Formats: sequence, structure tokens, C-alpha cells
Amino acid sequence: MKTLSVSHLLGIKYLKPEDLHLIFETATHFKEVINRPIKKVPSLRDITIANLFFENSTRTKLSFELAEKRLSADVLNFSAAQSSVKKGETLVDTVNNILAMKVDMVVMRHPHPGAAHFLSQHVKSCIINAGDGTHEHPSQALLDAFSLQEKFGDLGGRRIAIVGDILHSRVALSNIYALKMLGAEVRLCAPKSLLPKHIESLGVSVSTDLMEVLNWCDAANMLRVQNERMELSYFPTTREYSQNFGLTGERLKKLRKEIVVLHPGPINRGVEITSEVADSDQAIILDQVENGVAIRMAIIYLLASKLNIPLK
Ligand code: NCD
Repeated sequence: MKTLSVSHLLGIKYLKPEDLHLIFETATHFKEVINRPIKKVPSLRDITIANLFFENSTRTKLSFELAEKRLSADVLNFSAAQSSVKKGETLVDTVNNILAMKVDMVVMRHPHPGAAHFLSQHVKSCIINAGDGTHEHPSQALLDAFSLQEKFGDLGGRRIAIVGDILHSRVALSNIYALKMLGAEVRLCAPKSLLPKHIESLGVSVSTDLMEVLNWCDAANMLRVQNERMELSYFPTTREYSQNFGLTGERLKKLRKEIVVLHPGPINRGVEITSEVADSDQAIILDQVENGVAIRMAIIYLLASKLNIPLK
């Protein structure tokens, strides 16, 4: 059986192109499974997974939980707001206590960049990064790339735009790594204040002109402005931001072609994207959500097959 080159999923940066292809191949199989009348397989019946969420989440948390349940794993859910973290317990202590209850795998979202990597070095468990601050969100990038591949086939030479708050977005960084690894061309579009310095060193081009980028690309991934991560003001007003960087039906109509529109959610309707576009046939936002479950089943299954526990 083919296996991943890693034993944790900490970021796309640590993966090889073969890992991405193996995850996609496995996800294609699981997508077929979750569309059957009986959506479950017994594969992970002897495995226990803890979902540790130290930061808010709707889609990612539900998607991981559903993926685990579709694989028949036992699932523990932990939210920082209701935990002893508030009483001063350290991350390593919290996780070691959970592992003492014989947990095999940890899915973690944390506000600090590097938290998943840190944990993988300090506890004996398989760690899946479900978003670490502004750093990486590997499962999101995998489901985005998988959804694009469903639309276009091979992504080699495809032009993908990432528009919005690149500076604070873990989705942007993980997408850049994944899309480049799959041979796509990537162009970032944002106000200068929301573009990290030297980002071109990752092999992407940048622009502050949305129409130029839309004319160039085959697909645009529209990102939310991460207000909760901003201590400063990065642009004058939300209205001005959406006038310059918001995706509207009017802008799409001016193009001489039809582009595919992605959004990781949660959407701020009327800011980075209008309802008209978000609800149009060009948007594959709900396909992304459906694919998210299949991709996470694939990630969990492939990492579980590296544990010394026979799968069913
Ligand atoms: C993203 C995240 O949390 O980084 N959402 C998600 O996981 N679906 C993007 C965002 O919050 O804007």
C-alpha cells in the first residue's frame, strides 16, 4: 500500500507532490463512499481521535468530526472556552492528559503559528493541524486544490488568483504551497498593506489591480478580511475595500470568459464577495464543503495507516 511521506499533517510545506496525489486519490474513493446510502466504513473502528479547538470554527470542526465518524473512529471533542486552559494549564499538559486516556490522533486548531509543530515534538501522538494562527491550514488547501482539480483536471499551467487578506491568512499560505506543488501559476491580489513583504520569493506574482487579476486567472479564491487578527487599521473603510477588492457580478460580466470562484468560508457577504456571485453557478463554495469531508477522511485514513494499529 502507498503511504504518506509524513506521520503528522503540520503544513503543506512538509509534503511532497506524491503525498498530494495520494490524498486526492484516496479522497476520490471516500467521496464515492459518502454519496452512498450507507455513508460509513469501519476502517477506524479501533482508533480514537481528539479534536482540540482553541479557536472558533464551524466548517473545519464539523468537517473533521464528520470525517472521523464516517470512518467509524471514536471521537472526543474539546473546546478551549469550556476547558482548564482558562485555569492556566499549558498546551502540553492539556494534550498529555487527553493522551493518557488512550487517544491515537489529535486534530488541533490553535491561534498561535507553529502550535501544531510544537505539539508534534512534545507529545507522542499523530497531530493534524486544523489551522495554526496566521500560518498554515493544510486541510483547507488540500480541499481547495482537490475542488479545482475536479473542475480543471491537471492543475499544471492553470492560473489561480488568491484575493484578499493575504497577510493574515493561513488559507493563502497553504494554498500557495499546494498550488505551486501541483504546477499552477499563482497571483495574489490585495491592498499593499495586506500583502506580506517578500511574498514573491514563494514563486508567486502580486497585483493590486483586481480587474487585471480577474482577466488573467482561470479561478479566484476570495478570502475574508481577518478583522479578528488585526490590531491596526489596514485600509480606510470596509466600503472602500469592497469597492476595490470585492468580487461583484458586474466585474465578472466584464470578463471575456467564465472563471471559477472559491471561498473557504465564512463569507462576509457584500465585503469580499457579493451574494449574487457567492450564490451563482460559477461559485463552487458548497462543493468545497462537500469535498472537505472526503479530503479529511483521506488525511485521517492515510495517517492512521501509519500507526501500529490494524485498520478494518
Ligand atoms: C478559514 C480559517 O479559519 O482560516 N476558514 C475555514 O477554515 N473554513 C478562513 C477564514 O476564517 O476566513
